[in-house]
Amino acid sequence: MSRWIRWTGLVLAGLALLVAFAVAALYFVTTRHIREVYSFPDSPVRAAADPASVDRGRHLVEAIGKCQECHGADMGGKMWVDAPAFGRLAGSNLTSAGIGALTDADLERALRHGVGRDRRPLVFMPSEAFAAMGDEDLAALLGYLRTLPPVDRELPEPTVGPVGRALYLPGNLPLLPVRLIDHGAAHPDRVASVTAEYGEYLATIGGCRGCHGLALAGDANPDAPDLTVGRLGDWTEQDFFTALRRGKRPDGSVIDPETMPWVRSGLMTDDEIRAVWMYMRALPAAPRE
Ligand code: HEC
Ligand code: HEC
Repeated sequence: MSRWIRWTGLVLAGLALLVAFAVAALYFVTTRHIREVYSFPDSPVRAAADPASVDRGRHLVEAIGKCQECHGADMGGKMWVDAPAFGRLAGSNLTSAGIGALTDADLERALRHGVGRDRRPLVFMPSEAFAAMGDEDLAALLGYLRTLPPVDRELPEPTVGPVGRALYLPGNLPLLPVRLIDHGAAHPDRVASVTAEYGEYLATIGGCRGCHGLALAGDANPDAPDLTVGRLGDWTEQDFFTALRRGKRPDGSVIDPETMPWVRSGLMTDDEIRAVWMYMRALPAAPRE
């Protein structure tokens, strides 16, 4: 009997040691990724100051980039995810009180390369979407940020817990967008038009792919469905407008505004919504499960 107890104790101690070793290895590898220092040269893009550009910048923030979802209605920052096992993440203060000391080049690095002022990766900031922004749009967006009245709010540094790290490592969580971006890519300006090509640009910088999958096939976030003709073949353009503007599907059911940011995407102009629709219709049907 005592011998049996001794063996059980040894096996349990061995298992505990293995778990401790796995957790230590997980923290070792992910901390190296999180603390890695990147250097990207200064971009020549500068914040635009003319009223038309600043207005365009406001639209890019409110309707396309949906920055307020994570940076707060007043852009002064907000606690965005607060679950210690997963992570504690705050969208930073983007008013002059928060980013006043940053140069336009620093802001470009945050938006298009996913690194912060310390040259280390930004955590969960969807830079992989904004990376495609053309120079003119970026200049407009920066121009608008520079006009935001200061909001005095301090936010905690991000922390990533064991669950967040364990999901990140096998590639199930876009924790560090800096690692997902093609940093050598060109940033062509796009002429706004009602075309599938412009819709593709809006779907990219609008973050649709981050949730609905690269080809909008519903293979990224398990809650975000396939948007291709394979599933939405019966939808009309009017149905798409109703989904984004009123949050309703053709059968009258409600699209959850907490998980699908239609309240902001519905602020896209009619022409922009049409362009995204044309792009969705041009995509190949996603393979059925
Ligand atoms: C899904 C949530 C989310 C969205 C949407 C989002 N951000 Fe962020 N952003 C974050 C988080 C979280 C951080 C802080 C990351 C960190 O500190 O590691 C951040 C950081 C930043 C920073 C770095 C600020 C600093 O002080 O260094 C900038 C600049 C920024 N975001 C701009 C934007 C803009 C502009 C938009 C809209 C076009 C936007 N973000 C949309 C989550 C988001
Ligand atoms: C933050 C993640 C997220 C982003 C960004 C996002 N979606 Fe969604 N979307 C969802 C989720 C989750 C649902 C399902 C909501 C529900 O179950 O009620 C959804 C549902 C939809 C639906 C309804 C489809 C159906 O049959 O239920 C449409 C249409 C849609 N999204 C289009 C878009 C477009 C276009 C964009 C980009 C402009 C976009 N979404 C960006 C998460 C997202």
